[in-house]
Amino acid sequence: MTEPLSQFRCVACAATYPIETVRFSCDACGGLLDVLPDLRAFGRSGSEWRDLFDRRRATLPNASTPPRDISGVWRYREHVFPPLSVEKIVSKPEGNTRLYAAKELGARLGLSHLHVKHEGENPTLSFKDRGMTVGVSWANQLGLRDVACASTGDTSAALAAYAAEVPGMRSVVLLPDAKITGEQLSQALQYGAVTLGLDTDFDGCMKIVAELTKRRPIYLLNSMNPVRIEGQKSIGWEAIHDLGWHVPDWFVVPVGNAGNLSAIGKGLREWLDLGVIDRKPRLAGIQAAAADPFFQSYETGFTQRITRVAGETAASAIRIGAPVSHPKAEREIKFFDGVVARVTEDELLDAGALANRCGLAICPNSAVALAGAAKLRAEGVIKQDETVVVIATAHALKFSGSAMAYHQGTGRFANPPRRVAATVDAVIEALAAP
Ligand code: F0G
Repeated sequence: MTEPLSQFRCVACAATYPIETVRFSCDACGGLLDVLPDLRAFGRSGSEWRDLFDRRRATLPNASTPPRDISGVWRYREHVFPPLSVEKIVSKPEGNTRLYAAKELGARLGLSHLHVKHEGENPTLSFKDRGMTVGVSWANQLGLRDVACASTGDTSAALAAYAAEVPGMRSVVLLPDAKITGEQLSQALQYGAVTLGLDTDFDGCMKIVAELTKRRPIYLLNSMNPVRIEGQKSIGWEAIHDLGWHVPDWFVVPVGNAGNLSAIGKGLREWLDLGVIDRKPRLAGIQAAAADPFFQSYETGFTQRITRVAGETAASAIRIGAPVSHPKAEREIKFFDGVVARVTEDELLDAGALANRCGLAICPNSAVALAGAAKLRAEGVIKQDETVVVIATAHALKFSGSAMAYHQGTGRFANPPRRVAATVDAVIEALAAP
């Protein structure tokens, strides 16, 4: 019998399971599962893969090109999730986000080669679309009708938007009541998700949805689902492709559940193994001080897995006290000689406002990563001439409340709106004021 191309494998005890089964944790020990694809079975060399991806990227789409052939996720489809049939793919298309050469911003932070991969330019304005195209496509292939997630607002928007494209699929989202932005909430409503606000925090919603999906035939599409986050591997891949196959010295990523950091790391390990890339970047995971359990665990040398009640932060999408993907993220931090840092509210708000002022519409969660890069630079961990890719995870316009509050306050870069009388003289007078 030939070895299957992909299987699930437990991160803790290495038990394996067939990929075509619905499961989110190890039956033997309860550990997290990985998708383990046998990518070498394709028999291509690193340079053959690079040529293939270059060719796909160079193909100009026209009106009849299927979205999957334009997608910045499915461009790498053999490495994303081999068991999926191409005709089952639900794609908008996603990915192909800009990698901004942030010269002005970099100069302000003492970084000569700062790039910002703007995942807020995805169809639902966050990186979650890259995972959700895989998760919903797989649910589509398995013929599953109900899909669900707990969310701080972006996963729910993506789930609702992708499920909306599959006839008969129903999305159910569990949200911490009054703890996500109005823009995020409106996305779930607009795309037709069954939207439930629970009187708890994200961690409370997560526990309930995990139990719900055990008790009912509902497919869980949180990052605990190892299939979904296979799509997020493409963030790191595409950034390297954007750089003309140059591997940056650093990827800097904001951390909530730690699924994204894990996925990016896993994808990079796979490309190292296949010879698509030939050197390791370093990884930096950054948290907000109000929600810093992964940082605290890192501080113990990962001898303890710390959880906490997450406090209020402008980075509301990463207000998480018990990161579900901790074991996977710990593995990637260790493999990639990574670091974990945390930033204060003032640091993240000012870094976000500075990026915005330099023309980049990044959100407060992305600003956590940027502030972390600035902090690591100031501490000398990141060197001035190193190439740094900061992952901006969502668009500023999903978090306008926090921007308005900042600009009406006393922050370093506050730019408050001013009311003036409706006369030319009043406008001229306003322009003369400092
Ligand atoms: N940035 C944004 C904008 C997010 O929405 C999230 C997570 C993260 C960063 C952190 O990614 O959890 O993989 O470490 N949002 C989830 C959600 C929790 O429900 O939308 P992570």
